[in-house]
Amino acid sequence: MFTLRGMDVRMGTRSTTRALDTEAVHAGRDDLARQGLHAPPIDLSTTYPAFDSRGEAARIDAFAATGAQPDGPPVYGRLGNPTTARFETALARLEGTETAVAFASGMAALSAVLLARGSMGLRHVVAVRPLYGCSDHLLTAGLLGSEVTWTDPAGVADALRPDTGLVLVESPANPTLAEVDLRALAHACGSVPLLVDNTFATPVLQRPAEHGARLVLHSATKYLGGHGDVLAGVVACDEEFAGRLRQIRFATGGVLHPLAGYLLLRGLSTLPVRVRAASASAAELARRLTADPRVARVHYPRVGGAMVSFEVHGDPHEVIAGVRLITPAVSLGSVDSLIQHPASISHRIVDAGDRRAAGVDDRLLRLSVGLEDVEDLWADLDGALG
Ligand SMILES: Cc1ncc(COP(=O)(O)O)c(C=O)c1O
Repeated sequence: MFTLRGMDVRMGTRSTTRALDTEAVHAGRDDLARQGLHAPPIDLSTTYPAFDSRGEAARIDAFAATGAQPDGPPVYGRLGNPTTARFETALARLEGTETAVAFASGMAALSAVLLARGSMGLRHVVAVRPLYGCSDHLLTAGLLGSEVTWTDPAGVADALRPDTGLVLVESPANPTLAEVDLRALAHACGSVPLLVDNTFATPVLQRPAEHGARLVLHSATKYLGGHGDVLAGVVACDEEFAGRLRQIRFATGGVLHPLAGYLLLRGLSTLPVRVRAASASAAELARRLTADPRVARVHYPRVGGAMVSFEVHGDPHEVIAGVRLITPAVSLGSVDSLIQHPASISHRIVDAGDRRAAGVDDRLLRLSVGLEDVEDLWADLDGALG
C-alpha cells in the first residue's frame, strides 16, 4: 500500500509475484484505472492548500521526526511530489527494495547518502576504484567532509573503522566495466551499509539488494530515463534509510522536478526492452572489436549490458573525431550511441596516477551502445578506427 495525494492505494495482492517486465510497465500506476486514467497525471504544484493547519503541522512534525512520507495531502514540493512518488515506487519494485528516493541528479543522490552518514558522525568511506570521475572527486576532495580509504574488494573488511559510514562500489564500473562479487562484498561490509552504483547494469541485469547491498544508486540520467533528456538520480533502499534521505533532500533542496519524474516513469516502462536490445548489439560489437587488430583490449562485463570499453593501438582522439553516426559525447544509456575518451572527459578530474592505477588506460574509449542497427554501428566504428 502506498499513499498518493492522500489516498491509500492498495496494490493488488497478485502484484508481488509480477515479473520484471510487467512491473516496468505497471508499477507506480496501479491506481490509475480506478481513477479513470490511463497516463499518469503530472502534478506540478509546488505547494498544496491546507485549511486544517493544525493537521498539516502534525504531518510536518511527523516528517521531521522520521522522514516518512506524510500521510494525507502533500505539503510542499521539497517534502515529496505525487508524480515523482510514482517513479520512486516503480524503481523500488524493479530493484526489489522497500522504497526509493529520487534526486535532481545522480551526484545529488550520492551527496545525500554521504550527508546522511556524515551527519551521524560516520564520515569515513571505503571505496573501490574505478568510480565515475565526479564520484571519485567528491570523495577524494572531501567536499562534504568525508574521508575516503581506497582499496580493492578483498581489502574492504580490513579498511573498515568504527567511524566507517559507507562502502561504495560501482559494478560494472565506469569506465572499465570491472565487476565486483557483490555477495562477498556485502558479507565483508558486516553492518556497514554497502552502496552499489547500479547505473550500468540496471535492475534488468542485476539487483544488488538481492546480494545484500543496503543502498542501490542510479544516475537515472542514463538508462532509467533512457532518452538523454532527463537529469536525475535515485537511491533504492529500506524505509529507515529513505527517511533520512528524504530529510536531507528536504533540508538541502536537491529535489527532482515532477516533469522529470514523469519522464523517468515513462522511461522505466521500456527499460527491459531497451537494455536487452542494446546489450545484444553491445555483445556483438565487443566480439568484433576483440577480433580486430586495431584494438588492443576490449572490456565487456560478465553481467552483459550495453556498455563496451576498448583500448586502441592508435590515437583515441582520432577515433572520436572519426565517428559519424555515433555521437561523441559524455553520458550514456540513451537510445542513440555515444562514445567518449574517459581520460579526457568523464575521468579527467581524477588524478592521472590514480586513474591509471585503477585500470583506466589513456587509450581507453567508452562506448554506450544504443538502439541503432548493429551493422550501421559497426560500419561507423570500422571507419573511425581507420
Ligand atoms: C556510474 C555513475 N554514477 C553516477 C553518475 C552521476 O550522475 P549524474 O550525472 O546524473 O549526476 C554518473 C554520471 O555519469 C555515472 O556514470
